[in-house]
Amino acid sequence: MSKTVVLTGIKPTGMPHLGNYLGAIRPALQMADEENTEARFFIADYHSLNSVRDPATLRSYIHEVAAVWLAAGLDPEKVLIYKQSDVPETFELTTILMAFTAKGLMNRAHAYKAAVDVNREKGQSDDHQINMGIYTYPVLMAADILLFDTDYVPVGKDQVQHIEMAQDIAGVVNHNYKKDLLVIPKARVDEQLMTVPGLDGRKMSKSYGNHIPLFSPEKKLRKTIMKIVTNSQGLDEPKNPDTCNVFALYKLFADVAEQKVLAERYRAGGMGWGDAKVALFEKLNAEIGPMREKYNSLMADPSQIDAILADGSARARKVAAGTIRRLRDAVGVS
Ligand code: TRP
Repeated sequence: MSKTVVLTGIKPTGMPHLGNYLGAIRPALQMADEENTEARFFIADYHSLNSVRDPATLRSYIHEVAAVWLAAGLDPEKVLIYKQSDVPETFELTTILMAFTAKGLMNRAHAYKAAVDVNREKGQSDDHQINMGIYTYPVLMAADILLFDTDYVPVGKDQVQHIEMAQDIAGVVNHNYKKDLLVIPKARVDEQLMTVPGLDGRKMSKSYGNHIPLFSPEKKLRKTIMKIVTNSQGLDEPKNPDTCNVFALYKLFADVAEQKVLAERYRAGGMGWGDAKVALFEKLNAEIGPMREKYNSLMADPSQIDAILADGSARARKVAAGTIRRLRDAVGVS
């Protein structure tokens, strides 16, 4: 039986936060560990080029994001990790897919529409600061996915439309050539882990400024956790764990027995918010601490990262070459 292919792309845009770790990184790595699964995780660096225009910044984002995934437990022996820009077959497939992608489909992309809306609000022309990379973003993303005969794409809710567009485009190609040339991918959204609360209780997001960076020095992490907003109940008062931001985060790292113990301390009274935050910090640091060390050692010598990515790209290109041969044959250019 052939293995299920799970693929996801990671846009290098700076240090991920705890919400990214819990909502994307940790579940994707768990999925990669499932039986009969072939996992492929890549760094979508050309997707970032649409907005990151400084070469040193882009280079360091690429190293950072690769180091984060490796530190979080990605085993490059088992999971293929590579850089999109190192697999030129992606761009050949993009060109092929362009011919089958309705312009109207791109007009409907949420991210593009949001950019147009911002322009209208500001009284700018619709096209202001929108480049073709942004406009055709979903086609490049479809190529990333379809190039590897992907069955499942683990993504957040915001990316589901892009997967539907990849399905749509692949369907048009298959229909035209009357065969299953491209595997129709499915999105896998982990509903349970969708909302990780930030410091103020709203969804954790860099744009809200309420995020906890995944790897900051231990002292800084502790300080950040101390900033989590709680109510003004005094030390002695019994507290409700179910309405508390600190407890909500604790739950995402602790097992059921540990959750029960802390919940009892809340309800009993005599535990201040500082104590709850220390409990969270310790739990968090126990999981993140060893990863932080690995991250720091990779970043201290990024040539280790480059070697892993180079090896991954070489292996990825072998798979990609097969798909491109199939497509070239089918369309009639070979
Ligand atoms: N668009 C995705 C994001 O913003 C990144 C991405 C690019 C991706 N290509 C992909 C995700 C292919 C899944 C599959 O996060």
